[in-house]
This record gives sequence, C-alpha cells and structure tokens, in this order.
Amino acid sequence: MRFNQHLHTVTRALAAGVIASAVLGSGSSAHDRTTQVTWTADVAPILQTRCVGCHDTGGFAPIPLASYQDARAAARQIKQEVLEGRMPPWPAARGFGDFSNDRSLTPLEAELLTAWAEGNTPIGPPVDAKYAATAPAAARAADLELMVPAPHDVTALSAHFDLPAVSGGDRWIGGWEFRPGNRSIITQAIVSIDGTRLGAWTPPDGAVTFPNGVARRLPAGARIGLEVRYRKSASPQTDRSGVAFYFADRPSRELQHRSLPCGRTVLDRDIDALAIAPRVASGGEWIEVVAERPDRSLKALSVVRRYEPAYPITYRFAHATPLARGTSIAVTSSSADCDADLEYSVRR
Ligand code: HEC
Repeated sequence: MRFNQHLHTVTRALAAGVIASAVLGSGSSAHDRTTQVTWTADVAPILQTRCVGCHDTGGFAPIPLASYQDARAAARQIKQEVLEGRMPPWPAARGFGDFSNDRSLTPLEAELLTAWAEGNTPIGPPVDAKYAATAPAAARAADLELMVPAPHDVTALSAHFDLPAVSGGDRWIGGWEFRPGNRSIITQAIVSIDGTRLGAWTPPDGAVTFPNGVARRLPAGARIGLEVRYRKSASPQTDRSGVAFYFADRPSRELQHRSLPCGRTVLDRDIDALAIAPRVASGGEWIEVVAERPDRSLKALSVVRRYEPAYPITYRFAHATPLARGTSIAVTSSSADCDADLEYSVRR
C-alpha cells in the first residue's frame, strides 16, 4: 500500500474520530461508532500483502482472510492477534535491517486494522475499476521445473526427496522458487544442489531472485535435493512439491552459503551479504548476528528477540550488504545451540 494513501486514510480517520466524539457526546458507547477506515480502501490491500499468503484456502493458516466476509467474521481475532504482535509471524526486531521479504505490519497498518475491527468493519466504496489494483505483470515463466515424481504419504515430520536428474549442459541459476504441494502442512523446505544448500523456504515466501550478476552453477546431471519439513496433522496428508529455476547468464559473482556457528567468524575475502537465516535449537531464545567491519563500524544483520522454531525465516536483505575481508561476524544467542546460514556472493 502506498504511503500517501495511508496518510490520507489517517487524516480521514482522525477527522472522523473528532466529529464522532463531538456529535455523539459522552453517552455513546464504542459500538455505535463506525470508522472511516474501510475494507476496500484500507484493509483489503493490507491483508492481501501481509496475510493472505498464508490465510487463503488450503494455505498454512487455519482461516482464510481474503474476502470481506471472511475478514469481517474474524475481525475480533484479527485485532487481538495484531495488538499482541502474534500476527503476522515475523520474529525479527523492527529497526534492524531492511528485508525484501519483510511482511511485518507498520505501526500505521496495525492501527488501520484495529480501527476497522473496532469500528463496525465498514466495506467502503466499490473499487473504481480505473484505480483497482492492476494485476501484477505476468511473472516470467520458469526455465526448468522439477517435481517429486509421485505424491508422498506424509508419515514423519520431515522427508528428503531427490528430484529427477537435470538434463542438458551446465547452466546458471539466477533465481528459484519452491513449489509447495500441500501448503497447509509444510513449515519449511531446504533446496540443495549436489548436496550444497541453495536456499530455504518458509510460507508464504515466493520466488527468490539473486541480484544482477549473481548466480549459482547448475552442473550437468546435478542432483536436486528437497528437504521438506511438515507439521503434525490430525488427518492423513499427502504432498507433492517441487522447485522451479530461472536461468541466468554466466555471472560475475557466484552465490555461496556458509554456516556461521555461534561465536565469531572472520571473513577471508570481500563479500556481498544477501540473506541470513539465524537458527536456535529451542523457541523463546534470542539470537543476533552482527558484523564488525575492519574500521570497527557495526552492521546488524539480524536481531531476533524471541526465536520461533515454527518460523525459521530466511531474512533477505533489500540491498546487498558489502562486507570487506577482515570483517568479523558475531553470532550471539541466549542459547549455546545456535548458528546462522549466510547467503552471499564473491567475485570470480
Ligand atoms: C506465515 C504465515 C502467516 C502469515 C503471513 C499470517 N498468519 Fe495469521 N496465522 C498463521 C497460523 C499458522 C495461525 C494458527 C495459529 C498459529 O499457529 O500461530 C494463524 C492464526 C491467525 C489468527 C487466529 C485464527 C483463529 O483461529 O483464531 C488470526 C486472526 C490471524 N492469524 C490473523 C493474521 C493477520 C491479520 C495476518 C496479517 C497481518 C496474518 N495472520 C498473517 C499463519 C500466518
């Protein structure tokens, strides 16, 4: 949602509040008040970008929130979850790092959702087709899509799949996308090429695109591995997932991963940090990843105050973060059992 649209809404909401208290006087209860924050103008766009990736039919979350009826029926719970900071799940502390996959609510968005829930959930004006959100530009079709050959009966909390071998010569991957089969139960998927990590997915992540000039080699005959983690389900479940690849030209920088253990790691080359996935063995612990550059300046890569094992999110930096040789990366946690997977690129 655009910022100026927000400002406009807040101005309207404030004006409405002032008028309502002037007209209704002190005798009226909160239930009489109808907010000017509406579904079509304010709430639907927020839920669409922040929530519906999980809260849709067949999705990871238990209730859908895509339609006005669904959201209105859940308005009280929405307010509660938002006020208590449980939804959307995004354990990273605000103010440390700028992430391209950040789905946390801004304070203003949280305000709008609660105002709507408290103010009789008005639907608002019909959306003028001229201004209705235009469908996003058709995403580029994937160059290669590999699926698990047959549906898998989910009997354990994780499963490993070797996808059919890649045919053709060496290629370069400029992006990838996990294709979840049974979205209601998959908590995480880790994709690897010949046993080396390519990246990890958690709901509702979409496609990952590496910065221009960065790619990962897909050797001829490579084995693609999928490690899929499931949550418990009361009923029998099957899953058939896959992964899609977007090819790129020969890059100037190669994509790499490195697992940083708890403690300090000193970089022996210049890198661009692209993403970080902190991990602690148990929930509720805090974990921080901070880079100390050779000039002693500090750069927080990730600060998680209460780790949630149910959401092992990969935090993708909105801008590649250059870290020079000699930079010391400290992974610190309240738990001794911690690490962080660093995704980065190095010059060839
Ligand atoms: C990463 C996936 C995900 C996203 C994104 C997400 N939710 Fe949820 N939501 C869940 C899951 C899973 C649950 C079930 C409770 C749990 O496991 O924490 C849930 C539960 C809820 C509930 C309680 C439902 C009930 O049965 O009482 C509400 C309300 C809710 N979410 C609202 C939201 C809102 C509003 C947003 C966006 C601002 C949001 N959620 C974003 C996954 C998500």
